[in-house]
Amino acid sequence: MKFFVDTADIKEIKDLAATGMVDGVTTNPSLAAKSGKKFVELITEICAVCPGPVSAEVTALDHATMMKEAEVLRKIAKNVTIKVPLTPDGLKTCKALSDDGTMVNVTLCFSPAQALLAAKAGAAFISPFVGRLDDVGQDGMELIDDICTIYRNYGFATEVLVASIRHPMHVVEAAKIGAHVATMPPATLRQLFNHPLTDKGLKAFMDDWAKTGQSIL
Ligand code: E4P
Repeated sequence: MKFFVDTADIKEIKDLAATGMVDGVTTNPSLAAKSGKKFVELITEICAVCPGPVSAEVTALDHATMMKEAEVLRKIAKNVTIKVPLTPDGLKTCKALSDDGTMVNVTLCFSPAQALLAAKAGAAFISPFVGRLDDVGQDGMELIDDICTIYRNYGFATEVLVASIRHPMHVVEAAKIGAHVATMPPATLRQLFNHPLTDKGLKAFMDDWAKTGQSIL
């Protein structure tokens, strides 16, 4: 399973990239706004830090303007993935860009039918939002299961990029289902490293080792 970080915070991306666990980055207009940076500069900076796919979302709602925005964004770097919303215009844009060899991430997916459309439009990634579904009392992970089944049935190359992840169990459940990618906030990626028994066990090992008075070096 690939891990993407869902943030526009360059320092966080650099810190986490140093762990070797970051395969890509996703941003959205809300995260970009929070960064306070000019969007093109922000994506340029992120691409310089992360060689994997970096999702940059168009903000137009109509196909023609989405294409113009995508033209600006895809020139930034080879690893820019154009993110489009799951709307008729977004999917039309997805098809045009994918046919032209550009990676597209279709975002704001909340149903298996929407995911099927995105795959037919040639998306490189589909982003189903599990946390936001859980928030309204629907089972986000059931959607991941449905999409993975549908994509397997037809051999679609579109990767399932589980988004709106809120905690480590979302990552584990998505991995058990076989989703290709999980994009998560930096704090969730850090949580994956932790277990109290690891800390406790390490402390006991170190205490015992200290009693020997030895040093390996
Ligand atoms: C995905 O690409 C989105 O940016 C993100 O996962 C949304 O997460 P949220 O529901 O926590 O805002």
